Amino acid sequence: MIDFKEIIAKKINNIVNLDETNIYNNLEIPPKQDMGDYAFPCFVLSKELKKSPQIIAEEIKDKIELDKNISEIKVVGGYLNFYLNKEYFIKNVLNEMAEKNENYGSSNIGNGKNIVIDYSSPNIAKPFHIGHLRSTVIGNSIYKIYKYLGYNCIGINHIGDWGTQFGKLIEGYKRWGNEYNIEENPIDELTKIYIRINNLCKEDESVLEDCRNNFKKLEDGDEYCVNLWKKFKELSLKEFERIYDLLDVHFDSYNGEAFYSDKMQEVVDILERKGLLVESEGAKVVDLSEQGMIPCIIEKSNGSTTYATRDLAAIMYRAREYDFNKAIYLTSYEQILHFKQIFEVAKMLDLDEKYTSNLIHAPFGMVQLKTGKMSTREGTIVKLEDLLNESITRVKAIIENKNPNLENKEEIAKQVGIGAVIFNDLYNNRIKDEVFDWDIMLNFNGETGPYMQYIYVRTKSILEKAGYIPKIEDVDFDLLNNDTAYKIIKLIYSFQDTIIQAAEKYEPYIIARYLINLAQSFSTFYNENKILGEEKKVQDTRVYLTYAVGNVLKIGASLLGIKMPDRM
Ligand code: ARG
Repeated sequence: MIDFKEIIAKKINNIVNLDETNIYNNLEIPPKQDMGDYAFPCFVLSKELKKSPQIIAEEIKDKIELDKNISEIKVVGGYLNFYLNKEYFIKNVLNEMAEKNENYGSSNIGNGKNIVIDYSSPNIAKPFHIGHLRSTVIGNSIYKIYKYLGYNCIGINHIGDWGTQFGKLIEGYKRWGNEYNIEENPIDELTKIYIRINNLCKEDESVLEDCRNNFKKLEDGDEYCVNLWKKFKELSLKEFERIYDLLDVHFDSYNGEAFYSDKMQEVVDILERKGLLVESEGAKVVDLSEQGMIPCIIEKSNGSTTYATRDLAAIMYRAREYDFNKAIYLTSYEQILHFKQIFEVAKMLDLDEKYTSNLIHAPFGMVQLKTGKMSTREGTIVKLEDLLNESITRVKAIIENKNPNLENKEEIAKQVGIGAVIFNDLYNNRIKDEVFDWDIMLNFNGETGPYMQYIYVRTKSILEKAGYIPKIEDVDFDLLNNDTAYKIIKLIYSFQDTIIQAAEKYEPYIIARYLINLAQSFSTFYNENKILGEEKKVQDTRVYLTYAVGNVLKIGASLLGIKMPDRM
């Protein structure tokens, strides 16, 4: 598609002594549509030219020739406001739509480069909680966004399946395994065992010693311990899999922490060889005081490795295995320090700078219930599977109430219920704490997933009633030259840019907000214009616009990991 910004930047560049990229990056979108399509702030030139921005603007304006791209230039204050030739612009956008259809907005700027995305990553034998939901949903969306831009994505579920807690679980199971039905309800039951053994450890030092021995045995490959660990892991994963199925999220690798158990020695050796491991209260640590951080613990005083060491081994492995262009990690902001530390220590390993300078932690905020923060101790932790199912049930009730004869109710309730939860999760800046409120997320008129789906369904039903998708040759671009339609066309034009921005900032919310904007703009258009039953040319043009909007909504939703129902 034509980059109109580039055309304008070139024109200005021909006149002034400022390089094109610089001009390009300074071009703004005016706050109001009647102020034009792009604006160039001439302040950036006033220092060099020693003239007022207003005068510079006038001078540039006089020298730029209008052409098929640009129909008008106005000077407002120190700004040069550019008005695109609307008809030519509309024609370009819709021709691109007709050419790319369901691939509209895609690109190959990624050029097949490898992007490793570490997301979801729940812990074995512990609940999959709402924090893991955020990681799953945001990571999945980033995966899809990068893929759409032509990158090769590798989605990794870095399962928490290693550490001293498994020595405890094994001990608890050895003692009371037959009292708990872990096959039926693995995570709940294993959690109970874990709490019970922990309490016993507090009372009796020797039990704690047994637990430590179990983990040592597990690390040494003892058959009994390894088999039990495998069983805990399989049962837990089966439970997680139910959630991934509901969300339709998949991974390319489930190499979790245990996978690195035999790969950590290398990390220790390198740090040791470089003299970077220092003793501190019996533990081996890397001093990070120069970087203004507390030390990174590599080996605990009892000789066992840490979460950090496993992450360091994982960085080395991923660099070699995937030759990544970027490695992105999604966890809550509680782990900001952890990632800062390991990214620093990674620079001390024998890794190419192209890897260590492309490690990215994209943190996100916590989830709060309307009634306050979730806490394990207060019993206000919500189990994710229950929450997803509750959303589906609530949507089912709404459908029963509003549209009881709808076909395929179950499937649609699932798409809308799950979509609502995902959308709610992606509608804000990652770092913002999220409030979980059913009334807000399931409001069909709000800035929500169901609203976006509802507008999409509307476009579908218009197309169905029309019975055809018009050929692009039958579209009269001039008929779309009015404020409401032009706003939609401009949004459609900026779709790819929106996707690129979301990728650059690791912020799916940029797409989510865009989609609401597009849905609302279409709703206005729909209220103002009759689409079907008009003179043929008018109908063709409006139906085509309807098709284009529906198409972008569907692609955008899929980049968020949300499915669109055909009816609702
Ligand atoms: N299992 C961790 C947790 O639940 C998240 C792991 C994130 N990924 C990583 N490579 N550290 O908090």
